[in-house]
Formats: sequence, C-alpha cells, structure tokens
Amino acid sequence: MASAPISLSTHCCSSSSAYSNSSSIWSHQNPINFPFPAASPKPKYASLQFKGNAFPNVVFMQDGAWTATVAGLENEAPSKNLKDGLTSVALPKEKNQIGNFDVNDDKSTVSITVVGASGDLAKKKIFPALFALYYEDCLPEHFTIFGYARSKMTDAELRDMVSRTLTCRIDKRENCGEKMEQFLQRCFYHSGQYDSQENFAELDKALKEHEAGRVSNRLFYLSIPPNIFVDAVKCASLSATASAGWTRVIVEKPFGRDSESSAALTKSLKQYLTEDQIFRIDHYLGKELVENLSVLRFSNLIFEPLWSRQYIRNVQLIFSEDFGTEGRGGYFDHYGIMRDIMQNHLLQILALFAMETPVSLDAEDIRNEKVKVLRSMRPIRADDVIIGQYKSHTKGGVSYPGYTDDKTVPKDSLTPTFAAAALFIDNARWDGVPFLMKAGKALHDKRAEIRVQFRNVPGNLYNRNSGTDLDQATNELVIRVQPDEAIYLKINNKVPGLGMRLDQSNLNLLYKARYSKEIPDAYERLLLDAVEGERRLFIRSDELDAAWALFTPVLKNLEENRKVPEYYPYGSRGPVGAHYLAARYNVKWGDLGVDE
Ligand code: BG6
Repeated sequence: MASAPISLSTHCCSSSSAYSNSSSIWSHQNPINFPFPAASPKPKYASLQFKGNAFPNVVFMQDGAWTATVAGLENEAPSKNLKDGLTSVALPKEKNQIGNFDVNDDKSTVSITVVGASGDLAKKKIFPALFALYYEDCLPEHFTIFGYARSKMTDAELRDMVSRTLTCRIDKRENCGEKMEQFLQRCFYHSGQYDSQENFAELDKALKEHEAGRVSNRLFYLSIPPNIFVDAVKCASLSATASAGWTRVIVEKPFGRDSESSAALTKSLKQYLTEDQIFRIDHYLGKELVENLSVLRFSNLIFEPLWSRQYIRNVQLIFSEDFGTEGRGGYFDHYGIMRDIMQNHLLQILALFAMETPVSLDAEDIRNEKVKVLRSMRPIRADDVIIGQYKSHTKGGVSYPGYTDDKTVPKDSLTPTFAAAALFIDNARWDGVPFLMKAGKALHDKRAEIRVQFRNVPGNLYNRNSGTDLDQATNELVIRVQPDEAIYLKINNKVPGLGMRLDQSNLNLLYKARYSKEIPDAYERLLLDAVEGERRLFIRSDELDAAWALFTPVLKNLEENRKVPEYYPYGSRGPVGAHYLAARYNVKWGDLGVDE
C-alpha cells in the first residue's frame, strides 16, 4: 500500500491541462488520495463508483496512490466516506486522454523526424527525451520516429547509435530494458541530403508506409546548422508534409545573428510554413524552475505585491559553466556568449519574470505579456556591457586551455566567452530597477539562477544588531534553475541565546529533498508540448524581433569597435569588470557569498 500527500493532479504528461485547470480545481473541489494497492497493469485513469455517486476522473499516481477531484465535499470527511463506500472501479477504454491526444485513437498517428539524426544534440538530448516520453506513456499509441541525415545507416545502426545514449533514468526503472527495446523498434532511419526534394519525397513514402492509412501528423525536429534550415524546411514542406493532419517544425537557435539576419530567416521560413507551424525552441523555457517562475509569482499571495520597483532593488540573472567551448569553438566564435546565452535564455527568463499578469495561461496571452516587457526595455548601452575571454591556466599541475587554443578558433579572436550587462525596463513596474545579466564559460562553477535582491527595511529597529554591512541583511529570493534545483529566501533571524544578535538564514525548498521524482529534462517537456500543439514555451516571431532589437545595436557597437575583452583565467570567477559594472548601480553580485 502506498499513499501520497494530498495533491492536485491531472496527468503526468499533460502539462497544459494541469496548468489551466489548477485554479478552478483548488477553489471548488477537494483532491483526495486513495491509498489503494496498485493494480496490474497499472491504469492511468479510472471511474470509481461509490454508493450513490460516480467519479469519472480518477487519476492513478505513479506511486500507487489514486487522486480524484471531487466536487462539493468540503464539509465532509471525504476520503473515509469514499473509501468505505467504494463499489466498483472501471478503467475506461474510450476516454484515455493525454493532453490533446487520445492515446487510444486508432485513426491517427504521429511521425517524428529528427533531421540531423547523427548530430550531438539528437544523440544527447532528442532521442533520450523521446524515449523518456515513451517510457512515461506520453506519446500517442501510433507513433514512429525517423532519423534523417546524410550519412548512410541502416535502421539497426541507428538503433544501436540511439541505444547508447538512452538511459533508464526514470524513477523506478521498472521494465526499462523492455521499454527501451519497444521504443527502438519504433525508430527508423532514412538517409538523404538536406536540400533534396527527391530525398524528402522518399522519406514521405517511408513515413506513409508506417502511417498505414491513418490520419498523419508530422513533427520535424531540425537538429542541423542554421545555414541549411531553409533548404530542409523547403524540402520537408514541399515533399513530406502531412496530407491530412498537422505538420510542425521545431527549430533551435541560432535564429540569425542580428535583427536583419533573423528577419531574413523568418521571412524565408514563412515562405513554406505558417507561424503556427514554427516551434522556436529555447530549451531554458522547458526547465522546471523556469516553468515554476509563474507559479511562484501568480499562485502565492505573498510574492506578487512585492514584485515591483517599490520593494525590489535589483534582479540578477546568472549563467556560468565550468568548462570552455570544447569542440564547439567553430560555432561559438561566430556568435559569442551574448548571442549564445543572453539574447535568448537569460532574456526569456527576464521577460517571464517581469511580465504583467497575463489574461490567462494560454500561449498567446503569455507571449503577449512577454513581448510587452521586451519592447519596454531601454536600448542596452555599450558602457553597460563588459566582455571577457578565458585564457589558459594551470592549477594543481593541470593546465586548462585558453579559448584561442581551440584549433577551430582564430588566434586573434575577440569573441567574448563572458559578458555582464545592465538592462532596464522602462515601464511603471520596473522603472529604475537594474536587471543585471552575467554569463560565462570556463568559470569556477556551473550554475543558472535568478536572484532577487529586496530593498533594505526602512527605519530598521535591528540595524544595530545586524553588523556594519546593511546589505548583508537584505532579503534575497534565489531561484536556482540548476544544478540542485531550489527556491530559497534569505531572511533575518535572531541567533538563539540570551543576547540579541541577528543572523541570515535560508527558507529553502530544495527539490531533491522535497520530491523523490526526478525532474524531467527540458527537451522532454518541449517535445511533448510540440506534439500536443502547446505553444506557450516556444518563441513567437515578434518576441524574437524584440529580443534582437534590444541586442543588435550593442553587439554591432562592440564588434565594429573591435572591443578587446578582459582576459580571465580558466576556472576563475571571471573579469573584475563585472564587479565595477554592478557597483555602478549599487549592486553586489549575489553569487559571491556562500548561501547554503
Ligand atoms: C546552449 C548553448 O543553448 O545552452 C550552450 O548553446 C550551453 O553553449 C547550453 O552550453 C547550456 O544548456 P544547459 O541546459 O546545459 O544549461
């Protein structure tokens, strides 16, 4: 027998419906857990019949508990009444709905083609994410996965390649080997050129064979360099579009290198696709803690009233990696850290953080609010940006290479591997609040976090007891996106004892301590959303335009003036200039102290 804490649940996979249903369920209904023994095979849904009552929407939890949302029982002792009165359990066949999908739907099928199947992203992220979705029963009953690339490979070779990166990381690892085998049997390979309509027509034929006359829905994941996006989209759209169902294409950054090239790319893609068919992925939006940002803010009364210039002194968005560009120098040198991390990942987080309350949780409502933030931002001044590049460093007898030691990087490259910038949103909520971004490679640690530093307490009675540095006593909310996902709030408290000394402590929600379930990879969530047609976490073209409008002038300024980066040793905390920049706005970077 297993039981779980009272919880809200729709379906493990149905992120969108969990989202949109949450408020009404909590306000009108009582979720109840039934600690019944797990059935075998484990169903996901059931209808329970009680004396005098039927509850059709009972959800079976992974750990064996059942969760039901039952209306109108606020004043009773619900779980006792219901358990005592249970008369039958029915497992409905016809209504087994996952998000926008009916998994028992025999008439339609989804074909997912990974274009660029032999590349690193496909191997490390896309196939493993698809397997995780399959393992969790989140893919529709009829689906096929095709790898498409130039190299010659058989289905068996593709399966062998894919199997090497699949892991049984899913919590219980139940039947994992078996599931993996079943999954691999659904994977096929087709070799072809990215600009050959003929080769895509052959792919179309192969897809049709697997679709076996069902309504076909097709998802293409372009895991290929951006210079061949348009060719591949053209061929896919002219030769391999779904004839009856939907066709969607996922594209991953870089979406150009500035406003002009990005607009040109969008224009070219739109010759073959409508905006609705283009799913621009920013995998940071699929990260659990980034998803949680809106929940934290809009479902907790205590945060939203503080979320403005009145209480917030500054916001910091920090990304650091403890390794260099190893093996990716060729790509990286053309883009640099500001395009690689700031213009997309950090700016997207900023927009979500700062947006006004959307009308609803629908994709268009959220994206409307995000784009308003981006369009309210002040152009970034070159003076408000500092750039750096890592140089070689020897520590403990080990030598670490400098950025230009990479053979694919020109020796005289000035491309920044580190940047810090101060940004401002000129609207009523955020006027004057510095949003500081910092991103770098080959630094001393790996982390991504959002830090919100609150103002000092006015007329604080305890100033005398807090020590000399008042900033030390400032409340700070930290949303640690990775590693060790956590949300913690620094508060002041009295050190126990007869004296009166103040200390700062953390109220800490550390995910791994709170939840035993593993956090899904960002690509799992995003792929599932793309299959379900949920666009909330994908970038709309006007968002992209606004993001480039903000960064293009300052990037041009730095590049045209051949601004020399500040060099920092591999494995260090980065250029000292980042501190001067922060100090100009009376800010101290929050990642310098030890929090936990
Ligand atoms: C990618 C960047 O978008 O994100 C890489 O191109 C970076 O340079 C990566 O390493 C970081 O992603 P994650 O999920 O590992 O933090």
